[in-house]
Amino acid sequence: MAVDVLIGLQWGDEGKGKIVDYLADKYDAICRFQGGPNAGHTIYVKGEKFVLHTIPSGIFREGVENVIGNGVVIDPITLRKEIKGLEALGVDVRSRLKIARKSHLILPSHRYLDAASEKAKGDKKIGSTLRGIGPTYMDKTGRNGLRFGDTDAPNFKEKYQDLKKRHETIAAIYPAFEFEWNEEEWFECIDFLKDFERVDCEYYLNDILDKGGKILAEGAQGVMLDIDFGTYPFVTSSNTITAGVCTGLGVAPSKIGEVIGISKAYCTRVGGGPFPTELFDDNGKKLQDLGHEFGATTGRPRRCGWIDLVQLRYSVMINGVTQIALTKSDIMDNFDEIVVADRYLVDDKETDQLPYDLCIDNYKPLYKTFKGWNTTLSSDDKELPDAFKEYLEYLESFVKVPIPIVSIGPERDALIIR
Ligand code: GDP
Ligand code: IMO
Ligand code: MG
Repeated sequence: MAVDVLIGLQWGDEGKGKIVDYLADKYDAICRFQGGPNAGHTIYVKGEKFVLHTIPSGIFREGVENVIGNGVVIDPITLRKEIKGLEALGVDVRSRLKIARKSHLILPSHRYLDAASEKAKGDKKIGSTLRGIGPTYMDKTGRNGLRFGDTDAPNFKEKYQDLKKRHETIAAIYPAFEFEWNEEEWFECIDFLKDFERVDCEYYLNDILDKGGKILAEGAQGVMLDIDFGTYPFVTSSNTITAGVCTGLGVAPSKIGEVIGISKAYCTRVGGGPFPTELFDDNGKKLQDLGHEFGATTGRPRRCGWIDLVQLRYSVMINGVTQIALTKSDIMDNFDEIVVADRYLVDDKETDQLPYDLCIDNYKPLYKTFKGWNTTLSSDDKELPDAFKEYLEYLESFVKVPIPIVSIGPERDALIIR
């Protein structure tokens, strides 16, 4: 059987957590394959809100395995907090969670370096979540990292100190600043996590597939934050795209099945970097207010703008998206006009492709306007309002992918399945 993939098609926070939680009971295992606690995936279960950072969003489903894959970077302190929060809600995390031995560890000194690098960038900063993501992936590719499986080594503490020393040498190029190291807590959390089942996720997951099981790979961030294809350098440090599933879990490309792309009916971005359709007017404010657009990890206000179909089609192409779930469609219930960008003017020439560098100010998006539906969408509706159908059909014909799932609220069942 196949590994289906679910990824964010924009700049993150598309509502991936909600859709994974909805789909999870159709799968044997839900797996995170990249990123770390920079992610914040919000789930509502029976009216209670929970934000997941490292644990896959299938954790609320009984009988479903949840795997933190080798491509993920783990902060033991955040992960313990998350596990305890779930256990307090009565979720049996211990029986449902597996951690890949080959996942990399975020040290307190990685977080320090992240903060130091951002401070040094001044107004050119990325707007990182400061969870130590960039420095940890740098150590991974630089072949200096510590992996979860290393915690069993008798000289683990020595390895830790060696890496910390390296970080101190690097940190010396930056001005020093106050920092909460929490090293003692870090080691306590390592001990706590050692009690959880650890797996070689490549063997573990291929075995599930060989037995006819189904796996869902849950992306974090979004395509436009991908290290290769995002708005570089304003990106995260991992491959957030479908290709990342193979390296982040140890499954072959031939095993990939459906690719479900998640897009908001508009667009948001948190942190720095280009955002072509960003709105600075009342509509932007209205999207932010009605959509409660504040980061699930850092609480920062999210920048808001119209949906960008040039960007969406780019994401569909890179990821081999086979279907789209359109989230937050309910937020558009209150707009007289719904606007979409469907071309760009680059150096005075019209194009339907994204320019090489969105940081260079030589382009502007061109827009098409649709009539708003001005009514409250409901899961009970047998027929969608005509104006909404027209908008959806335009999106589908533009990106050439069906939109079978329309999300109309944060709760698990607030969905219209077409
Ligand atoms: P993720 O990182 O992609 O999982 O998304 P986040 O959890 O960071 O942000 C999505 C936010 O939108 C969360 O607060 C969700 O509860 C909420 N949400 C998801 N889908 C919908 C929807 O269809 N309508 C509304 N109103 N809220 C939604
Ligand atoms: P989910 O999975 C939205 C953004 C940060 C910053 C840039 C780099 O919830 O969609 P990093 O901490 O990786 O060094 O930050 O990427 N970013 C996200 N934005 N959603 C996320 O995750 C994000 N994870 C990172 O704001 O601009
Ligand atoms: Mg999020």
